[in-house]
Amino acid sequence: MTDAIIHSHPDADAVAAAAAEHLAEAARRASAERGRFRVALSGGNTPRLLYQRLASPELGAAIDWRRWEIFFSDERKVPPDDAHSNYRMASVAWFSRVALPAASVHRIEGELDGAQAAARYEAELGEQPLDLVLLGMGEDGHTASLFPGTPALAERERRVVQAKSPVPPHDRISMTLRALNEARAVVFLVTGTSKSARLAQVLAERARASNPSDLPASQVRPRSNTVHFYVDRAALPEPIEPG
Ligand code: 6PG
Repeated sequence: MTDAIIHSHPDADAVAAAAAEHLAEAARRASAERGRFRVALSGGNTPRLLYQRLASPELGAAIDWRRWEIFFSDERKVPPDDAHSNYRMASVAWFSRVALPAASVHRIEGELDGAQAAARYEAELGEQPLDLVLLGMGEDGHTASLFPGTPALAERERRVVQAKSPVPPHDRISMTLRALNEARAVVFLVTGTSKSARLAQVLAERARASNPSDLPASQVRPRSNTVHFYVDRAALPEPIEPG
């Protein structure tokens, strides 16, 4: 039985708009239930449209940013002003455009020594589960900076570790499957034809109750046992038959 709820939209803009509404609603619910919304952001390029949407006047003005605690699922080991920084991308697209208290953004200190950055971030993240983790997926099925066959993917005790990427920037800091799977909810954003073959494989694997593959995106199974996939037609041309 699949645990994937698929939200299919015509294009990347429509995916961003729908995912932004999902996050805003999740934030309202978490704030009402627990007073805060603890969310971890994904990096890469796909979420830029979503971050811009969250900062838009029509949506951003209706959100109580004082309730948000923003973390990152991973970061490249670069300074925060580096073009490869996930923090920088989110800052330019979103944080700089809304009334978000600076203390609400918990940046992974990519400028530090890797072990030190991972330890400091693990302490900052703490043991309280995240309300929602936003994730992307690479063409190899990686998510966050958990790549197939790597020690970071195999880590079961730590919540934040150093990681290696086969594509530059090679040195990363990443939340582990433990941290991702302790979250109350997970939302994947996957768009573009380059992801379609791998996405079809991951969704088919998730529909198989037993023996998930070693693909990282197939191994993200949060406590709620529900994973939302926001996809465009380019990434998922045909609806997947329910498993
Ligand atoms: C990162 C991301 C990574 C990303 C995928 C997809 O730091 O690069 O966390 O997991 O989500 O690589 O990247 P694109 O959105 O650029 O395709």
